Amino acid sequence: MSNQDHKFFDLFMLVIGILVGITIIIFFLARYMASETQDRHIVEGAIYQQQIADRIKPVGSVALPGDQAGQNEKAAAKAAAAAPVAATLSGLEVFNTACAACHGPGIAGAPKVGDAAAWADRIATGMDKLKEHAVTGFQGKTGFMPPKGGRADLSDDEIHSAVEYMVSESQ
Ligand code: HEC
Repeated sequence: MSNQDHKFFDLFMLVIGILVGITIIIFFLARYMASETQDRHIVEGAIYQQQIADRIKPVGSVALPGDQAGQNEKAAAKAAAAAPVAATLSGLEVFNTACAACHGPGIAGAPKVGDAAAWADRIATGMDKLKEHAVTGFQGKTGFMPPKGGRADLSDDEIHSAVEYMVSESQ
């Protein structure tokens, strides 16, 4: 190797060495900064704290009569459980899920929704009678209307609103 090459090589290695050194310094600097900021940010975060509280909370709690904390918990549990059941369906929703199978196409003697002629006489008997027949079932001249259309899980109110929807569409 010529003298020139030696000089270049030494300088080159020096520069590489310095760059490697800077890289290592930046690496540890970043690690240090992260431990000061990001780790603490996570540990002090509301979600992490909540998770810890959930993991270390007692398995059960004793609710004494008149104990407000116990009552609150019970009320909260009740509300959480009751919410989905309390959701009542609209007339159109009930019709689509429970009545449309027969009353949509007009199957097995069921008066077709939208067919004013088929409904006129029924509407003339009064809304209360129609609602009653829809809830309790009805054997008429054209066929058999099962109680609540076979959907015993639906409330009377839901059936009533379905009847109102069907009648309003068939006048
Ligand atoms: C299995 C088929 C079937 C289903 C499902 C069904 N119906 Fe009916 N429905 C009938 C038939 C058949 C009649 C006609 C009975 C007759 O007059 O002979 C009828 C009649 C009626 C009448 C008229 C009653 C009267 O007094 O003239 C109403 C109101 C009614 N249905 C409401 C509903 C509602 C609301 C639903 C959904 C919750 C429903 N039906 C689901 C078959 C069905």
